[in-house]
Amino acid sequence: MSPVLKIYRGGKLIHTAEAVPGETLYERIIASDIYLEAPCGGRGKCGKCLVQLSPDGPKVRACQTQVSGDMDVYLPEEMHMKIAGDDAKSKTVTYTGPLGIAVDIGTTTVVAHLTDIPNCTRLATASGVNAQRTYGADVISRIQYCAENGHEVLTRVIRAQLAGLISKACKSVGANPKDIHYISIAGNTIMQHLAAGYSPVAMGVAPFTPVELFGNERPAGKDLPVADDAVLYFAPCVYSYVGGDITAGMLASDLENIKGNCVYIDIGTNGELVLKADDRYYCCATAAGPAFEGAEIAKGMAAIQGAISHVKWSAEKGLELTVIGDAAPEGLCGSGLMDALAVMVSTSAVDETGRLVDAGELEHHPISRYLGKREGKNVFWLSKEHDVYMIPGDVRKLQLAKAAIAAGIQTLLHTAGKTNKDISGFLLAGGFGSFLDQHSAATIGLFPKDFLPFARTMGNTAGEGAALALCTQAARDTLKNMMDNFEVVELSTSKIFNEQFIDQMMFEG
Ligand code: FES
Repeated sequence: MSPVLKIYRGGKLIHTAEAVPGETLYERIIASDIYLEAPCGGRGKCGKCLVQLSPDGPKVRACQTQVSGDMDVYLPEEMHMKIAGDDAKSKTVTYTGPLGIAVDIGTTTVVAHLTDIPNCTRLATASGVNAQRTYGADVISRIQYCAENGHEVLTRVIRAQLAGLISKACKSVGANPKDIHYISIAGNTIMQHLAAGYSPVAMGVAPFTPVELFGNERPAGKDLPVADDAVLYFAPCVYSYVGGDITAGMLASDLENIKGNCVYIDIGTNGELVLKADDRYYCCATAAGPAFEGAEIAKGMAAIQGAISHVKWSAEKGLELTVIGDAAPEGLCGSGLMDALAVMVSTSAVDETGRLVDAGELEHHPISRYLGKREGKNVFWLSKEHDVYMIPGDVRKLQLAKAAIAAGIQTLLHTAGKTNKDISGFLLAGGFGSFLDQHSAATIGLFPKDFLPFARTMGNTAGEGAALALCTQAARDTLKNMMDNFEVVELSTSKIFNEQFIDQMMFEG
């Protein structure tokens, strides 16, 4: 007889599954379509897929624990991420129709806006954590999953999620999904491939070839609950690592009409960077790594309840922490990590090379009381009481990530024959761009301090751009024309990038 897994969440039995002896708990849980946080996609690297085998038992990694007979598995509470714009509450609206759906498929979240096309009015928004997250937090681990298992599962998962969000948004305002005749999607090139039913695997290895670059229309497909003749439009991608989320974001930011030279950045697992200079768009993507999202950081976590989202320092008051949900601190999300690092850099708790110093070296500095040892290693305590800290390895990962982005900016400037002083616009797009403290980001050297006076956060530009492309042919034409003026700057072979990367590793404080 096959072993039986009883899976609990929040103390309640949520599923019973027959398992194959030898498979891992992670494999059986995701095969049962149950959400489990698994940033590395089951590769044993992130240490975040923790479950318990009894209510009070120790936590074990689901991807490293094999099924051995009947087992009870207790999952952590599901992640409830605050996603901007989810207003799918019940109300009834009248609309002139036809209706459309504009979707931002992010690697982490998916946001769908139900829109009345004739007057481009937003009727409702539905959103969720990207259901593919169980297969890896970042695009690289999802590509790896597809390389090993095919892409069909991830395509099915995202399209089922889209169908669910469409139904939810329509239901919330009493709209008929069959009145939806147009869907406009913006996502990175990998997300768009998976939503379109293409394998992204060739984008995971040199020469990183996409199946297509989109910017076109196709039938929506019978698996979406929309009009039979509905059309699906994907925003154009520039190449494998600068996708429709960036071009749609540029559209929403009206980058083409901004006077002067302007840098546009969208930081997620990758940093996607665009420099508009002399009416050309120079772009690149840097592998910033998942550090800014809190993954692979000892006490890193998503921006959910219990995450330290901001850190302030003064000699009089010491560290002041802002914790999401007004809860006890459990870890740090990306904006909190950046603030904490900025405090360490500005107080010399981290020296210019990125070394976390000994408390003794700063004996007379008030920051020294936050420096100490844990398991023999130097740590920076955010909360000793709640065991929240940063270790030298965390500093190093953030240092690599910031250096990659800063060096990417400098490489684009160099390619266009510009310097920091030639820039008069700096746009920070995406969720992380909205939450980070700009002064902290400049303090750690993520971008030049010269950009601070005109730095602007843009919010969810990909979703806004998808909505514009949904409503007018003119917006879709703008996107099409933009594509003629792009120049991709390849960083992996760039001597300038390599030199800059070493320079940008340093902290100036
Ligand atoms: S360690 Fe198990 S999913 Fe990452």
